Amino acid sequence: MESAAKAKELRSELEQLAESAKSSRELMSGIVKLLHERMLKYNWVGFYMLEDGSPGTPAMLALGPFEGAMTPHTRIPLHQGICGAAASSGKTVVVDDVSKDPRYLACSLETKSEIVVPVFVHNKVVGELDIDSHFPAAFKDEDRELVEFCAELMGKYLSQTSAAK
Ligand code: SME
Repeated sequence: MESAAKAKELRSELEQLAESAKSSRELMSGIVKLLHERMLKYNWVGFYMLEDGSPGTPAMLALGPFEGAMTPHTRIPLHQGICGAAASSGKTVVVDDVSKDPRYLACSLETKSEIVVPVFVHNKVVGELDIDSHFPAAFKDEDRELVEFCAELMGKYLSQTSAAK
């Protein structure tokens, strides 16, 4: 990422989005738009959310708001892809070179690296924020911190709205 001052400004804009968003969908759209616009190496930015699924059917991640080219992966089973790995482990996954990761599900031929950060509500994974870059090893420690900040913001918003129900 560029300077610390820019990162701080971006975080405060993200917090403002969370304060003014009228729905979780609006907040997700705002976050992906802002990250895609400001972070020049974030070439595809999107949320995947866990589907409720009926009992007996495997849990799936469904594509939510995103910025970037349309992806063929609109629904991803939990045992597939880097997305499935992050959601099923509840841990951030950073892949510096997607061509070397057998879990990788290709979205665009241009993608070189990827980060996926789970979103939690009351300690349970409810979805994730996925970012692809056309640059190898694009996601450094400060990027990871920023993306985790966004995922936490989303988780907090969702827990407040689910508590209000
Ligand atoms: N690359 C992901 C699939 C989603 S696209 O990147 C948008 C994966 O391996 O799970």
